Amino acid sequence: MSKILIKNIKGLVQYGEDMPIARVGRDMQHLPILENAYLAIEDNIIVAYGAMNEWEGITDWRNVEVIDADGKYVLPAFCDSHTHIVFAKSREEEFVDRIKGLTYEEIALKGGGILNSARRLAEKSEDELFEEALIRVKKVMATGTGAIEIKSGYGLTVEAEIKMLRVIKRLKEVLPIAVKATFLGAHAFPTKFKENHRGYIDLIINELLPKIEEEQLADYIDVFCERNYFSLEEMEEILIAGKKHGLIPKVHVNQFSVMGGIAKAIELGALSVDHLEEISDEDIDAIKHSECMPTLLPSCSHFISIPFGNARKLIEAGLPIALASDFNPGTTPTGNLQVVFSLACIKMKLTPEEAINALTLNAAYAMGINETHGSISLGKSGNVIITNEIPSLAYIPYAFGENHIERLIS
Ligand code: NIG
Ligand code: FE
Repeated sequence: MSKILIKNIKGLVQYGEDMPIARVGRDMQHLPILENAYLAIEDNIIVAYGAMNEWEGITDWRNVEVIDADGKYVLPAFCDSHTHIVFAKSREEEFVDRIKGLTYEEIALKGGGILNSARRLAEKSEDELFEEALIRVKKVMATGTGAIEIKSGYGLTVEAEIKMLRVIKRLKEVLPIAVKATFLGAHAFPTKFKENHRGYIDLIINELLPKIEEEQLADYIDVFCERNYFSLEEMEEILIAGKKHGLIPKVHVNQFSVMGGIAKAIELGALSVDHLEEISDEDIDAIKHSECMPTLLPSCSHFISIPFGNARKLIEAGLPIALASDFNPGTTPTGNLQVVFSLACIKMKLTPEEAINALTLNAAYAMGINETHGSISLGKSGNVIITNEIPSLAYIPYAFGENHIERLIS
């Protein structure tokens, strides 16, 4: 049995019982902080917390690791509800092409983008992909990520998609943090099926989905609904088929264009709609009447120079938002959620309190783990973050580019 006691905590953040499943609208500004606190974790479960002056001490000191957090904050770990962390190779040549003036869409139309990553992934073995992804996950854990959703979508053949999903399954088995797997076979049409969309959709529905269910390889199903990728009707057909195999929709929509994908995904029971760099009033209305979490990805906007999602408009409409990294080699080559935190504050005008809600409670909801993650509550996961000694919580997004996390308990 492992026991950890964190004492003299400067501020215990996002603590309490009877937490809401998510914070919405103006309530996103609400962030409970207990000053001068302690937190006890047993076998990775939160068993006690409170004010230092009410701490009754420990009766059994055997096997207790005591951490003095004087001057430091303790937060629930950040949940990254949207990543593509399994990939074969970085794509800095496309980055240079963009510097020289090409857009993300122009590069993709030349055979770069997702198809570039798919060609590289075909050349790597499951073991290589696993080892490399494991290193990346450990790196993001060191910056505060304590739960992660991971998508397939760089396979685009039966063999390679299954290879990616098996890698994610292995990560789930070995990592000390929660992992959710998302099947994103509908990420792009492979060159072979460029003129034969029906053929690729049939392959997803008739060959991939039954195999995925048989091997229990995924929790969610994603589709990149966008011009030059999957149409509204194609997304609908794929999501309906996925649901028949037990997969809940969680989709890429409104990255470059408004196509009605938000309302359609919600109609099909999507847990989250992600990207939303472009959004219409009809889209906002559709989210208002749903239980779906709008998820914004500011580091993607920053990296490929597209508009930032309009977080203020969503919050002012009384909606919640979650923030995620979108870690992938094409549009977001970092999974550091402190970068996301800073960009959300600087570019989307979120307050630090709103951003922390979006990275913890609301992000846990967006990946279906809000019963066990997202807040410091009795019985929830003991994956918590201990910061460095910092003057205030706002210092984290303010002093951008530094790692303010001393340790993720896992
Ligand atoms: O979320 N937009 C679709 N998928 C990824 C990018 C994939 C890539 O370029 O490799 C995204 O930004
Ligand atoms: Fe993505």
